Amino acid sequence: MNSDDVMVKIGSLTKSFGHIKALDNMNLDIKKGELLGIIGPNGAGKTTAIRIICCILQPNSGEVMVGGYSIYNDQIKIKSMIGYLPEEPNLYERFKARNLLKYFGELYGVPKNQLDGRIDELLELVGMSERAEDRINTFSKGLRQRIGIARALIHDPELIIFDEPTMGLDPATSRTVRNFIKELKGDKTVILCTHYMDEADLLCDRVAILNQGRIRDIGTPKTLKEQVHGDIILKVKVHQPQKIDTNRITALNSVEALNLEGNQFLISLNTREDISTIIDVFGSQAYSVNTKEPTLDDVFIQSV
Ligand SMILES: Nc1ncnc2c1ncn2[C@@H]1O[C@H](COP(=O)(O)OP(=O)(O)OP(=O)(O)O)[C@@H](O)[C@H]1O
Ligand SMILES: [Mg+2]
Repeated sequence: MNSDDVMVKIGSLTKSFGHIKALDNMNLDIKKGELLGIIGPNGAGKTTAIRIICCILQPNSGEVMVGGYSIYNDQIKIKSMIGYLPEEPNLYERFKARNLLKYFGELYGVPKNQLDGRIDELLELVGMSERAEDRINTFSKGLRQRIGIARALIHDPELIIFDEPTMGLDPATSRTVRNFIKELKGDKTVILCTHYMDEADLLCDRVAILNQGRIRDIGTPKTLKEQVHGDIILKVKVHQPQKIDTNRITALNSVEALNLEGNQFLISLNTREDISTIIDVFGSQAYSVNTKEPTLDDVFIQSV
């Protein structure tokens, strides 16, 4: 990757908390304009890595460069480039929504003549225009999350980092939040930590799998799913399983395994090339046929 195309460069990053190694020689390049997902089990090191990128936490060793600036020398510059939505946004409870955004806008040096317009635009974006004059402590979890997102975007940062943005939100609010994130795509560089594999699949250009402080795998959702063993499962329900000549199926090149559960055959395939041949073998015995493609859940379970 050309260094001009890299927004975040993480090299040999290590961080311990006492005897716990949260990050263990982590390496990762995040491209400008990409939406990168980080997935991994609880305690994998996701939040630790993010906090180091945001200059909130110092590593033990290794380097992180953000837009060409080092976390050791250019913390103020880096902080001004990043919008961060923490796992649990700590919002000033007694502020009214608009005043909170004003406070952070001034803190980040948003020009005074642009600030009010920017706040209106963001409140609109997160669907909170009607609640602008209400205090944060009167908001539900989802409404706080929306204000947290607006706060992260107030200074129009180049790099936006969301740490589990839809955790604990209802399906409709989750969809709204995912739509905001989708709209940022291309224009901004986005890092998204999530436990929701469908969210990662839907939104991310690439997904990195972090486990025990190291990147174990990285790729587009499509390439990661293609690596899962037994790529495709063909499910065929038949009237009389004993009438099927299964040897004709298991002899085919693409067939990795064949199992029978009740009156349903489950056939693992590594390519789609023999599907029509297989269906011919079942002939009129088959009354239901469908395929299951691997999901990022399968990738996650296989990798960690
Ligand atoms: N301030 C801290 N003090 C001590 N240990 C910590 C601290 N922060 C993180 N850890 C430990 O470091 C490891 C990585 O934690 P981290 O919060 O980065 O994980 P995560 O991948 O974000 O997990 P989750 O999915 O649960 O949010 C864990 O074992 C955690 O307990
Ligand atoms: Mg975390």
